Amino acid sequence: MQPFEEFESAVRYYCRRWPAVFSTSRGSTLTTEEGVEYLDFFAGAGALSYGHNNPLLVDVAIEHLRAGKILHSLDTFTPEKRRFLEAMESLILKPRQLDMVVQTVGPTGATAVEAALTLAQRLTGKRAVVGYAGGYHGMTYRAASISASMAGREVVAHVGAFRTLPFVAHVTDHDLQLLDEALTTPVDGQAIGAVILEPTQGEGGARPFDPAYLGAVRQRCTELGVIVIADEVQAGVGRTGPFFSFEGSALDPDIICLSKSISGLGLPMAILLVRRELDTWAPGEFTGTFRGNNLAFATSATMLEHYWSDEETEKETEEKGLIIRTALDHLAETYGQGNFSVVGNGMLAGLNVTNDSLATAIADEAFARRLIVETCGTGDATVKLLAPIVIEEDELHRGLQLLEASVAAACSAR
Ligand SMILES: Cc1ncc(COP(=O)(O)O)c(C=O)c1O
Repeated sequence: MQPFEEFESAVRYYCRRWPAVFSTSRGSTLTTEEGVEYLDFFAGAGALSYGHNNPLLVDVAIEHLRAGKILHSLDTFTPEKRRFLEAMESLILKPRQLDMVVQTVGPTGATAVEAALTLAQRLTGKRAVVGYAGGYHGMTYRAASISASMAGREVVAHVGAFRTLPFVAHVTDHDLQLLDEALTTPVDGQAIGAVILEPTQGEGGARPFDPAYLGAVRQRCTELGVIVIADEVQAGVGRTGPFFSFEGSALDPDIICLSKSISGLGLPMAILLVRRELDTWAPGEFTGTFRGNNLAFATSATMLEHYWSDEETEKETEEKGLIIRTALDHLAETYGQGNFSVVGNGMLAGLNVTNDSLATAIADEAFARRLIVETCGTGDATVKLLAPIVIEEDELHRGLQLLEASVAAACSAR
């Protein structure tokens, strides 16, 4: 490991958790340069929902490169962007009655969040933002300012007027009262222009908001002229079953942030979906050199056409989500002595083991068994499962067995 330790910044993180040199990957498997295989229940922090090196998308990428097609395009027209826009409209937006336009932004989730906040402020003239405990929106200065600490790592940036509300798993009258107060009371003299939330939180502990609460957020924001931003960077693109994790609620966001798995192949790509009548930008007002990753448009279009032309992907993800939940319920019952709880939505799931040292011990035991899992949530006490949604069922079962052995080992060592 010496060159990494000597030449790379101390900020490096995941490599400390998984000290192996990964060299190839396919589907749900990562292989080290020594040929050791790991089952990947982390999937690039959710960027690889469609698996590592998905062969269908690799073929598209290879063909694209060999043919000398455009790679970098800013926001000029290309056939690949046309295909991507058409697929997004016909397969995702129209069937869900979402009258929205696509805004390409620089290639990270945080850039999408920046663009959403900027547009909301531009639309309302109001600078303050309401967000939620456990919310994570990225590491740019403003995105970090509206994020909770990321799984045990404190976020130090704070800029602008921001108010945090508690996460709401089961809505009560008290939550609605807090929401009302939060939306109508200025922060540092600044009125509230936007609410941002992850309908299912990722880093905050793989936990979905109560859909009834999401409906209430929509209603109150409509009454007050506050913009609703859904950050679907981690939970979107099919991770929870439906394409968007807010489906089935009445959240009906004004702006949706997508990134991570939207290219299908793990390529850098991020977009905003903006309600058509709110798309009031002047040309070039929000820009960025890497908005046009044309290779990612090509793979994304194929991913959308292949996986979202019917309801199969959603159905299969929900079924696998149930398998995961059943396994986690069993672990909570068997090893938790009444203290563990199961969280999640579809294939964004976790086992809350109440303290970070046990969660870390489980993740370490898993790594020793060649299973990659991450920890997250308040106090970093949740073992998070984020397997590719296209994982084969036998691999899913194998991973869950490895997880059980890891939980058993970590618990018996206490
Ligand atoms: C919900 C959510 N929003 C935004 C981000 C930031 O994305 P990026 O790391 O690509 O900037 C993340 C990253 O984990 C995320 O989970």
